[in-house]
Amino acid sequence: MPRVFKATEIEKEEKEIKRDYLDRHMPHIFCPDEVKRGEKFAVKVIMGEEYTHPDEAEHFISVLQLWNRETLLAETRYTAGVFGNKPSHAEVDFYIVAPDVSMNLSAMAVCTKHGLWQSEDKAVKVI
Ligand SMILES: [Fe+2]
Repeated sequence: MPRVFKATEIEKEEKEIKRDYLDRHMPHIFCPDEVKRGEKFAVKVIMGEEYTHPDEAEHFISVLQLWNRETLLAETRYTAGVFGNKPSHAEVDFYIVAPDVSMNLSAMAVCTKHGLWQSEDKAVKVI
């Protein structure tokens, strides 16, 4: 079982000490708080806020995933060098259709050197 680094489980002191390391590995979700049932909407997943992640042959973000609770909705894969071998914020827009019930979205990211990272949850109310 891999260790999953979760935004909600990282202590405040650790966040201050390893701020750049944690920031560049943390996926974030941006989408509406409320969507209409059956309507397509965009969910952006982006890595880091302040710090960019390396894009090197042995160290890059290889996967971004979007989950609704325990269901994998979508994922995208990257190859080393896709960001010109320069540090970058990997990001993707997933377009999904709102189901009948409200969602609890989360994003997962894989760094080829530093493992599996989970975003904070994002509640989306379906109306
Ligand atoms: Fe990394």
